[in-house]
Amino acid sequence: MAVVKIPSSNTVVSERGQVATFLAAHGIDYERWTPDHSVATDAPPDTVLEAYDREIETLKERGGYRTADVIDVHPDTPNLDTMLAKFNREHWHDEDEVRFIIEGRGLFHVHPPGADVFVLEVEAGDLIRVPRGTHHWFDLCAERRIRAIRLFQDPSGWTPHYTDSGVDRGFQPVCFGPAYM
Ligand SMILES: [Fe+2]
Repeated sequence: MAVVKIPSSNTVVSERGQVATFLAAHGIDYERWTPDHSVATDAPPDTVLEAYDREIETLKERGGYRTADVIDVHPDTPNLDTMLAKFNREHWHDEDEVRFIIEGRGLFHVHPPGADVFVLEVEAGDLIRVPRGTHHWFDLCAERRIRAIRLFQDPSGWTPHYTDSGVDRGFQPVCFGPAYM
């Protein structure tokens, strides 16, 4: 289950319906997906995509997404720090950022126009769709592990555009969950 934190008011939203309502107010879709049949979290990408085919096809139709793939990040991923450094500064894309988490966790900071930054921690089973143009940044949690399905309208649109606002420097990427307890 995703958790939302609003640092400026020291608020946490963790009830599923409230998380979805909060995110919807900021244009972010949130769903929980279950596979058509059980699938191992370390199954080959094609097997994972096939298990979630129904949801993927529905979302493709809704958002005009053309391709889906599986990204796999773990602590031994080559050049992991370089890869993460591309996304842990405030940026936006010409493309929606659509992620379904298969395994691991991740932390999105979202900076809505004229509103306070909020933090969204996602874990296995969570689907989020962050609309194009949304200012945000991303970090992994302490275990540095995430496996996720990504959907693209056009993968070339996913290049980050940096705001260089420096807002991101005011936030520590601290996840909830067992790794920090
Ligand atoms: Fe991004």
